[in-house]
Amino acid sequence: MAANVAHQAGTPLNLVSGYVQMILGDPRTDERTRSRLRTVDAQIQQVTRVLRTMLDRARPPSGFEAVSLGAIITRVREVAQPRLWRSNIRLETSVAAGLPAVKVDPTQLEMALLNLVTNALDAMPGGGTLSIQASAGPKAVRLEVADSGPGLPAEVLSHLFDPWVTTKPAGQGSGLGLAIVRDVVRTHGGSVSAYNQSPGAVVVIELPVSGPPVTSS
Ligand SMILES: Nc1ncnc2c1ncn2[C@@H]1O[C@H](COP(=O)(O)OP(=O)(O)OP(=O)(O)O)[C@@H](O)[C@H]1O
Ligand SMILES: [Mg+2]
Repeated sequence: MAANVAHQAGTPLNLVSGYVQMILGDPRTDERTRSRLRTVDAQIQQVTRVLRTMLDRARPPSGFEAVSLGAIITRVREVAQPRLWRSNIRLETSVAAGLPAVKVDPTQLEMALLNLVTNALDAMPGGGTLSIQASAGPKAVRLEVADSGPGLPAEVLSHLFDPWVTTKPAGQGSGLGLAIVRDVVRTHGGSVSAYNQSPGAVVVIELPVSGPPVTSS
């Protein structure tokens, strides 16, 4: 249901955005109109992002396959690279030798990691260090995303993974990122937790080596 609404609203919005781009690109458009249109465009982007998130949440996992976490981390690095450069953030990655392959939906897991990376980027506007580490325990593989930002605010710690929990101003955060991470991890039969170190936040995802439970739809 939510997915339908998101899709129905997103489609015309996308076309509206096309018109906004067209008028912005027209050399006859004066600067005052241009500036107003940029405001319109920023709002369209914001709504699109929220709708996109709703759709992503509703999408059933497309397929589990045995993948190396190293490959997924490499993908995430590629996608995030431009923003890492711009924000002056150093990304350190490490993958333990001999890490077993995990049975995951790579698209969903990548999206979850990108949500964590985005949060870390938001937390370090002046630059810093981000680390993504993959290691293995006896029954689970562990993915750890740590940053050198100010850490998780105390007021959100107890309900961090619930939807709509955010400390960001309206228009900059919807509070869905970590809820999506939790959904994705649960679909994979895993668990997620977060804590503060000094300095910075750490999010830990544990995924079963054996793969997701067969019961999930
Ligand atoms: N790495 C981090 N460092 C500091 N605070 C964080 C970090 N990650 C999450 N948070 C805090 O947790 C809140 C919830 O994060 P979440 O990703 O769910 O939503 P959001 O980032 O606010 O919005 P959205 O992800 O929907 O754009 C954030 O608003 C922020 O206060
Ligand atoms: Mg977020």
